[in-house]
Amino acid sequence: MLDILFVMIFGLSGRVLAKDTDTKGRFSSPVLDVTEKQLIIERNQTLQLNCRGRWELQWVLPSGVPKVYNGTQIEESSCGRKNNQYCSRLTLSPALAQHTGSYRCRYRQKQRKQASVYVYITDSQRPFVKVQSGTPDVVFMKKGEPLIFPCRVTNPNAKVSLVKEFPLTPLTPDYQTIIWNSRHGFTVRSPTFFYIGFFSCETIVNGVKYTNKFVTHRTVNNIMDVYLNTTGLVQTLQGHMLALNCTVTAEWNSRVSISWTYPGKANGSATITRRISRSKTNMLFFSILTIPRLSKSDRGLYKCHVTSGPSKRETNTTVIVYDQPFIRLKRRDGPVVQASAGQKSFRLTPKLKAFPAPEIIWLKDGMVAAERCSRYHVDGFSLVIRDVAEEDAGIYTILAGIQQYGLFQNLTITLVVNVKPEIGEKTVSSRQPGTVQRGSRQALRCTTYGVPPPHIQWLWHPCPQKGLS
Ligand SMILES: *[C@@H]1O[C@H](CO)[C@@H](O)[C@H](O)[C@H]1NC(C)=O
Ligand SMILES: *[C@@H]1O[C@H](CO)[C@@H](O)[C@H](O)[C@H]1NC(C)=O
Ligand SMILES: *[C@@H]1O[C@H](CO)[C@@H](O)[C@H](O)[C@H]1NC(C)=O
Ligand SMILES: *[C@@H]1O[C@H](CO)[C@@H](O)[C@H](O)[C@H]1NC(C)=O
Ligand SMILES: *[C@@H]1O[C@H](CO)[C@@H](O)[C@H](O)[C@H]1NC(C)=O
Ligand SMILES: *[C@@H]1O[C@H](CO)[C@@H](O)[C@H](O)[C@H]1NC(C)=O
Ligand SMILES: *[C@@H]1O[C@H](CO)[C@@H](O)[C@H](O)[C@H]1NC(C)=O
Repeated sequence: MLDILFVMIFGLSGRVLAKDTDTKGRFSSPVLDVTEKQLIIERNQTLQLNCRGRWELQWVLPSGVPKVYNGTQIEESSCGRKNNQYCSRLTLSPALAQHTGSYRCRYRQKQRKQASVYVYITDSQRPFVKVQSGTPDVVFMKKGEPLIFPCRVTNPNAKVSLVKEFPLTPLTPDYQTIIWNSRHGFTVRSPTFFYIGFFSCETIVNGVKYTNKFVTHRTVNNIMDVYLNTTGLVQTLQGHMLALNCTVTAEWNSRVSISWTYPGKANGSATITRRISRSKTNMLFFSILTIPRLSKSDRGLYKCHVTSGPSKRETNTTVIVYDQPFIRLKRRDGPVVQASAGQKSFRLTPKLKAFPAPEIIWLKDGMVAAERCSRYHVDGFSLVIRDVAEEDAGIYTILAGIQQYGLFQNLTITLVVNVKPEIGEKTVSSRQPGTVQRGSRQALRCTTYGVPPPHIQWLWHPCPQKGLS
């Protein structure tokens, strides 16, 4: 008796709790009115799904449902107790076998939040979702990837077999190497050469045999890698030479074609040379684009396009051509910058643009900064000061130089280090209030320190009168 009572109370409180948390995190994803993961309806019936959520909703229908189809209706309304929820009703009438698939309701703005149900629309005259026109479908076989014969069915209980033709060999799904799934068809985990050829999915309904036929095709058009020896940005000077090397790694026996697009293509300003080499496992194709003397008009995007049968790849780089070498050095924030003593680190960063890369030296008060103090180091072209101290105040100069072209620039920045005000007397000892003679002359001292020098203000607090407190 006690046991039963306990269970009842426990069960009840458990449910109340669940409901509470439910309201809190409610509709973080939309909710469908069907709780089953799958539905089975018959052809010509009406499919109706209701979805509810906190934000605007959107339906994603199986590819077999035409984009424009007057059998599909979507009615949207506001709902919920305060009318602050979104409801959407999908009606599909009549439902047809080819509409079999996953129906998803998701948030328009948060598309990963979704609810879905898989709907089978059974039709004894159409056991496969797809009806073939006679020629088999091509399925591509890729090295290291599973092979899928996509013979989806309209009834989850359909008995389907996979058959290899010439020689006729029935293949039984063993759920290790061959897997049957009514929503996907047959999957062969690690296809071997045996799987090259003609195959069919077969099922018999009311004594009639239905098939989906496939031919597998092993592609040797596999581009494995495309590589440009300078990705990102190429910066260079007018009159200099540009050479870009596009390297393609592809499977043995594959053929690739490499082409370039670049700003001077119409003028034919580049020469292109090709080379092929073979290694034990794959082929390497090189295409080298050379422009012997660059002009301003050669600046822009250089693309290397690679095609091999149906596969396509491309890679690119941007080329910037400067008229002449230069250094542009400017202050970021005025001639005086401020830091505070005790700060973990402080960075002096002027605006610097230069080509080619200049050498950088930082001076502090006329001496090389990094040699003056171990807390200073140069990072890129910035000077970083660790654990800022009062003594770091001073005049800093950045020298930027490109020796090769005799270009030099410098810039001076004054650093002020602020120090928090301190009262000297406070650090010694806090004096106890003493007694002094009435009418006598007293001097109180306050010594302060800080950068900038602090202002001093005296305040007087009268003592509480005896007997009042
Ligand atoms: C569905 O409707 C079509 C056209 O109205 C009809 O020819 C067919 O027999 C119906 N199928 C079923 C299973 O009711
Ligand atoms: C659309 O609706 C009309 C009228 O209800 C109907 O005659 C027609 O067959 C339907 N289908 C298409 C594809 O237009
Ligand atoms: C092109 O680049 C590849 C990869 O860096 C290199 O192996 C090859 O030798 C280069 N080709 C030429 C002609 O420089
Ligand atoms: C890219 O390859 C070309 C040709 O081999 C070579 O001349 C050029 O210096 C290479 N560029 C880089 C940045 O390695
Ligand atoms: C093509 O050549 C003409 C004449 O030499 C030149 O004016 C033009 O800038 C060039 N265009 C490109 C994209 O190189
Ligand atoms: C250039 O390549 C990068 C990365 O490889 C790619 O993100 C970018 O879209 C490409 N740019 C163009 C214009 O093709
Ligand atoms: C900084 O540049 C000026 C001219 O802009 C030059 O007179 C001065 O000597 C330079 N200072 C240093 C430290 O190189």
